[in-house]
Amino acid sequence: MSQPPGELKVVVLGAGTVGAEVLRILAEQQEDLAHRIGARLTVTAVAVQDLERDRGPHVPRELLTGDASSAVRDADLVIELMGGIEPARSLLLDALRHGAAVVTANKALLAADGPTLYEAADANGVDLYFEAAVAGAIPIVRPVRESLAGDSIHRVLGIVNGTTNYILDAMTRTGADFEQALATATELGYAEADPTADVEGHDAAAKASILASLAFHSRVGLEDVHCEGITAVSSRDIEAARRMGRTIKLLSIVERVSGGADEPAGISARVYPALIPDAHPLASVSEAYNAVFVEAEAAGSLMFYGQGAGGAPTASAVLGDVVTAARQRVRGGVGPRESRYAGLEIVPLDQLRSKFYLGLHVHDEPGVLAQVAGTLSDHGISISTIHQEPAEGNDEGNTADSAFIGITTHRAREQAMQSALDVLRARPVVMSIDSLLRIEGE
Ligand code: HSE
Repeated sequence: MSQPPGELKVVVLGAGTVGAEVLRILAEQQEDLAHRIGARLTVTAVAVQDLERDRGPHVPRELLTGDASSAVRDADLVIELMGGIEPARSLLLDALRHGAAVVTANKALLAADGPTLYEAADANGVDLYFEAAVAGAIPIVRPVRESLAGDSIHRVLGIVNGTTNYILDAMTRTGADFEQALATATELGYAEADPTADVEGHDAAAKASILASLAFHSRVGLEDVHCEGITAVSSRDIEAARRMGRTIKLLSIVERVSGGADEPAGISARVYPALIPDAHPLASVSEAYNAVFVEAEAAGSLMFYGQGAGGAPTASAVLGDVVTAARQRVRGGVGPRESRYAGLEIVPLDQLRSKFYLGLHVHDEPGVLAQVAGTLSDHGISISTIHQEPAEGNDEGNTADSAFIGITTHRAREQAMQSALDVLRARPVVMSIDSLLRIEGE
């Protein structure tokens, strides 16, 4: 019988903010980690693209290499923090095929090609862990994959992108419009120089695909996630929500749709800005914090809250996976594999039923409300509340003979709402359809 290893060789791919923190903790906590694992972790290489860049005191220069391919072939454990699809994908496949366990924070890669990585891990009897890929420091992958493995998850509502939560929170607190709030977020370092992946919802969609796959034991790819970002959310929408006792949040929603009269059964995975009641636990998640609200059959409602990004918080999640994978290496076992036995179908958004908030700019003349209400009624959509206010004459070209209408509806099919919008758009009395937001969390 072979002896458990006394030392595990660790290769780190990428030495940015998170990588430097992972290396710091690996060095500073070396003794404790060795006790917790039952073997020492020795970092043998840190693969980076730019060997000259100064990476601070926690990234030992002598470990830097530009040859990531060779490094991963000689590792027991590879920690991938470089991000992006390639070369991360090829390097991780190589690492898994050479028998290394992999810990990654790469949500984009998992959402784009997770199954290939899972299959390589399975075929080679090694672990693939990715707690840091969803909501930074917050333990959510392990709770969904392991702690709740005996329960049935109905729904997960997540604020899993800190940049957009910061922007929406700033719009809510200060009355700023999207562009102003984005500028502040950029100035304070919450938004990246190119904020596209965050503000367009792509980052949140990648995380939704990971959560949906785990929660519903089915493969859910990025292409299965309906994705809308926050760039069209206006200060008028924020104000309308406030008036109704609601808050606008960018939500990643993954849900088991059980099928009803006119709704098919399967999984829905979607990202969009939504109105949630002020009393919902997610409404009070401010600044760049993340939170994930899980509704399960036996457990009921659970809320996970914390820092979703940043060097040290993300490193915490990475190190938790490192310890777990290393322990298994020492004991000779492997952790949970991909679970996709349920094979549930994706239910497209247009088949779902939701409550809506609809914002319209209309000519203020007799019969306009009747036309709008009639169009919704023709499509089987029942109005819940309606609010109208005259448009002030201002430099946006609004004139006093126009008005803004805010309508909330009872539950209606998305397809019916989209058809109604097509009709409304063609009506001369409708100047513009400014907003269509869903109401969630009720
Ligand atoms: N850019 C992400 C955010 C963090 O703003 O939350 C990494 O997923």
